[in-house]
Amino acid sequence: MWIAHHCLVALLLLLCPHLVWSGLPDPPLGTGEHADAWKPDPMHEYWDPANHHRPETETMAGIFPGEVCLECHAQITPGIVKDWRNSGHARAQQPVLCPACHGEDHQKLVFPTHQTCGNCHPQRLAEMEEEKKYGFPSHALAMERAVDAKHFADKPKAEVTACLQCHSVGSKCDSCHTRHRFDPAEARRPEACITCHSGPPHPDDDSYFASAHGQKYLEEGASWSWDKPLKKGNYPAPGCAYCHMREGKHQVADKAVWKFGIREINPRTAENVIKRKRWQETCADCHPAPVALSFFNALDAERKAAWNLLYRVEGLLKSLRSQDLLRPAASERPPYPMDRIARLFPRARIGFFEGQASAFYNVSAIERDYFELWYFDNLAAYKGMAHQAPAFQRRFAERMHQSAQQIENQAKRLSATGPHTPSNSMDLKSIWLDGEYTRFNRDHN
Ligand code: HEC
Ligand code: HEC
Ligand code: HEC
Ligand code: HEC
Ligand code: HEC
Ligand code: HEC
Ligand code: HEC
Ligand code: HEC
Repeated sequence: MWIAHHCLVALLLLLCPHLVWSGLPDPPLGTGEHADAWKPDPMHEYWDPANHHRPETETMAGIFPGEVCLECHAQITPGIVKDWRNSGHARAQQPVLCPACHGEDHQKLVFPTHQTCGNCHPQRLAEMEEEKKYGFPSHALAMERAVDAKHFADKPKAEVTACLQCHSVGSKCDSCHTRHRFDPAEARRPEACITCHSGPPHPDDDSYFASAHGQKYLEEGASWSWDKPLKKGNYPAPGCAYCHMREGKHQVADKAVWKFGIREINPRTAENVIKRKRWQETCADCHPAPVALSFFNALDAERKAAWNLLYRVEGLLKSLRSQDLLRPAASERPPYPMDRIARLFPRARIGFFEGQASAFYNVSAIERDYFELWYFDNLAAYKGMAHQAPAFQRRFAERMHQSAQQIENQAKRLSATGPHTPSNSMDLKSIWLDGEYTRFNRDHN
């Protein structure tokens, strides 16, 4: 039997050499649409446990009841046990012990996913799952949104390795109430959100703290009682979760109209009118109805003006492209390894509808200026407006105007000098298409 088995294995290996892997640990693979184009980092064990956690089998073996886990881990990881003892899980009538989330076999430990928590908190899980029907962006779809983004798999590791730290909100429940306290009071405060909702394309933190709401929170928030649920009357001014997770509902997508802000939308579709009603009900906890109404009209007007400016500059870039004035031209830049069509027919892609990923990297100077206008200044102006921080909004609207002016001047200059300047006749291909950096990137995903 033993010999027969091994003969069979040897035969199989002969026939299909890739099965040589079968006796060894699985070669780690990525996930999503581009799974074969990237490999997970060690940290992905934590960020996407369902797909990447591998139980540690070197040191400990045994099947233990919860009390024994606690006893040993009070020595091994005292901080974890202390946090757990201070948690709602320890206080529950039937305490939720370590094996409820990790399993009881130390050789097969797991890290909990949405589903693990959802087994005992089905309503909260269902609310989050419901986000999927509103499409992107949402917490429920955050992980697939990141790993399916072309630039995630196409860029070198060092530049994308942190994506999943934030997008892990889509694969586990300990983003806002962190382990092992799982404290709702922590989740209600803005600090729970801004670990991720910060940075130039989504300055939710800076815009909120610049608003009257954020100012009040900074001045008085330390003395508010955060143990109370997010309901009318419990908080003098709203934090992120008060507005976006109304009454504690684990749903952040059911009111989003302008969403991320990277494309123009029509705020008057039937769906958006319903979403706006939900927003107005939220503001109505503390303001008379006309305050919210005039606010949302002003938001839509601000967006319309922003998009008029963006379209004007986009048109300018497209005209430069048609005159072959973008240098390096698309054919002189390294294409994304996975973008087979762009390899054959290189073309500078301008604006949201021609391809967002391409706008980030490997572009000419003037395209990069437009990218920063569209992706950083525009999105900051939007969030300033959305979060009722008028001075913040004005600051970035002014930068948009300045930047548009500079791009227009630069375009005039390019048109005047034409394609035959000394810098335009340089051989950029040899630097960009096959430089050291490009080669390294191609080989290390
Ligand atoms: C309610 C669910 C839950 C319970 C109960 C629970 N844990 Fe955890 N534990 C988690 C989560 C969530 C993580 C983080 C996993 C991740 O990042 O993907 C974690 C991570 C860990 C880690 C890994 C720490 C690290 O940084 O590598 C250890 C060790 C651990 N838990 C031990 C325990 C022990 C011991 C108990 C019992 C006192 C316990 N856990 C109870 C949910 C739980
Ligand atoms: C006799 C001591 C002992 C007992 C009992 C014990 N553990 Fe551990 N545990 C350890 C040690 C040591 C480590 C770190 C080395 C390792 O991961 O094997 C660890 C690691 C862990 C980790 C981190 C795993 C990872 O992948 O990072 C978790 C989670 C965990 N234990 C949960 C439990 C649970 C749940 C129980 C009860 C079913 C339990 N432990 C019982 C000693 C113990
Ligand atoms: C075995 C069932 C079980 C599992 C699994 C479980 N919980 Fe709980 N959870 C409870 C019980 C019971 C309570 C206490 C009673 C209550 O508030 O519903 C609780 C309470 C909570 C609270 C409120 C704590 C407080 O201080 O008021 C949070 C937040 C929470 N759980 C989150 C989670 C998360 C996140 C996970 C997964 C990592 C998880 N739970 C896994 C059963 C569970
Ligand atoms: C661990 C990181 C993380 C934390 C913590 C987090 N978020 Fe998010 N959130 C994200 C990511 C990533 C997305 C975008 C997902 C996508 O691309 O689909 C997102 C999306 C959203 C959206 C939808 C955006 C849209 O344009 O429609 C809202 C609203 C939101 N989060 C609010 C919050 C609030 C409020 C909190 C705190 C209570 C919070 N988030 C905590 C990572 C996080
Ligand atoms: C600091 C946390 C953070 C990091 C790091 C991060 N993101 Fe995000 N990402 C977010 C948040 C928050 C949003 C949603 C913002 C909003 O809706 O206003 C978002 C939105 C997105 C969206 C837009 C979703 C849509 O439907 O329009 C994509 C795609 C995305 N991220 C991919 C990535 C990739 C790829 C990386 C790594 C290169 C990355 N993110 C790194 C927090 C982060
Ligand atoms: C975006 C941040 C965020 C994420 C992610 C999140 N929660 Fe919460 N959670 C909160 C907030 C905020 C509260 C407090 C709600 C309130 O005040 O009513 C809370 C409270 C809870 C409570 C306390 C009791 C209750 O029902 O109000 C439970 C249980 C809970 N969450 C479970 C989960 C589960 C399960 C997941 C994963 C499916 C999850 N949470 C993911 C923000 C979050
Ligand atoms: C007073 C209520 C309020 C508070 C507080 C608030 N927001 Fe917002 N937020 C809004 C409104 C209104 C919009 C724009 C809605 C739209 O698309 O028309 C918005 C937009 C957003 C968006 C884009 C997605 C969407 O829903 O349109 C994200 C992400 C976001 N906020 C995150 C945060 C974070 C993180 C905080 C805390 C730092 C925060 N918000 C605080 C009201 C609030
Ligand atoms: C939980 C109560 C609460 C909610 C909900 C709330 N606000 Fe406010 N809002 C306040 C308080 C309190 C102030 C005044 C802060 C201060 O200056 O002391 C304020 C101030 C404002 C201001 C600034 C007024 C000024 O004179 O500068 C605007 C605009 C505003 N809110 C709009 C909104 C909108 C729009 C919403 C819904 C998206 C909303 N608020 C939701 C409590 C709330």
